[in-house]
Amino acid sequence: MAIKKIIAFGSAKGGVGKSSITASIAISLSKKCKVGILDADIYGPNQNILFSIKEKPIIKNKLIKPIIKNNIEITSMGLILENDVAATWRGPMLSGAIKQLIHSTDWGELDYLLIDMPPGTGDAYLTIFNELEVDNFILINTSHILSLADSNRTISMLNKLNVNILGYIENNIFNAGKKTINFFETKRINKLATYSFHERIYNFDPEFNCEESNDVAKKIYEMT
Ligand SMILES: Nc1ncnc2c1ncn2[C@@H]1O[C@H](COP(=O)(O)OP(=O)(O)OP(=O)(O)O)[C@@H](O)[C@H]1O
Ligand SMILES: [Mg+2]
Repeated sequence: MAIKKIIAFGSAKGGVGKSSITASIAISLSKKCKVGILDADIYGPNQNILFSIKEKPIIKNKLIKPIIKNNIEITSMGLILENDVAATWRGPMLSGAIKQLIHSTDWGELDYLLIDMPPGTGDAYLTIFNELEVDNFILINTSHILSLADSNRTISMLNKLNVNILGYIENNIFNAGKKTINFFETKRINKLATYSFHERIYNFDPEFNCEESNDVAKKIYEMT
C-alpha cells in the first residue's frame, strides 16, 4: 500500500461524533492532500451514508476499488452490505471482515488514510492495530463525565498497544459552554480543536466548510 500516514479517529464511547468529524476532516485535508477513509465500523458503517454513496464498489483481481467522493477514496462495509442488513458476527468473523477491508482494498497513492473507528475497545481495535501501522490516534470526546470515563479506558488501551496519541478533539454537541475538566492536561494530551454544534454536520453536508476541521487538518499537516 502506498500510504504515507495512517491516522485513526476513535473513542470507546459511542455517538460522540467520530464518523462525522473524520468525514469533515477528510474533506478539509483533501484540499491539499490525497486522502482515503477506511470505515472500520463493521456493525454500524456510516461513511457510505455521510458521503451519500449509492453505487457498489467494483471488484477487480480480488481487490475492492474504493469509491471516490469529494476526491476522497472511501471504503466501508456499508458499501457491501445493504443499509438495513446487520452484520451479526462474532469476534473472529468481525476481525476477518476488518482484515478484508484493510488488505483487499486497492488504495491509490495516499498522503493520509483516516480510519473511522467503531465504539468500544475490543476485537476491532486489536485487529486494526495488529494489521496496520497506525501512525497516530486522535481521540474524540465530549465534556460529559461518561465520555471522559470511556476516554480514560481508550487511553489505557492505546498505551498498552503503544499507539501514539496526537491529541484530542472536544465535540461540544451536548455540553456547549461547559468547562472541560483538566483531565487531558494531566494525561499530557494536546487539545486539537473544539467543535461546536453544527446543523450541517448533523445533516452531513460534504460541501460544508467547517472551520474546526480546517484547523485540525492544518495541525495534522504540520504535526505529522
Ligand atoms: N458537532 C456536531 N454538531 C451537530 N451534530 C453532531 C456533531 N457531532 C456529531 N453530531 C451528531 O451526533 C450523532 C452521532 O455522531 P456520529 O455518528 O458521527 O458519532 P460516532 O461517534 O461516529 O457514533 P458511533 O459510536 O455510533 O460510531 C449524529 O447524529 C451526528 O450528526
Ligand atoms: Mg461512527
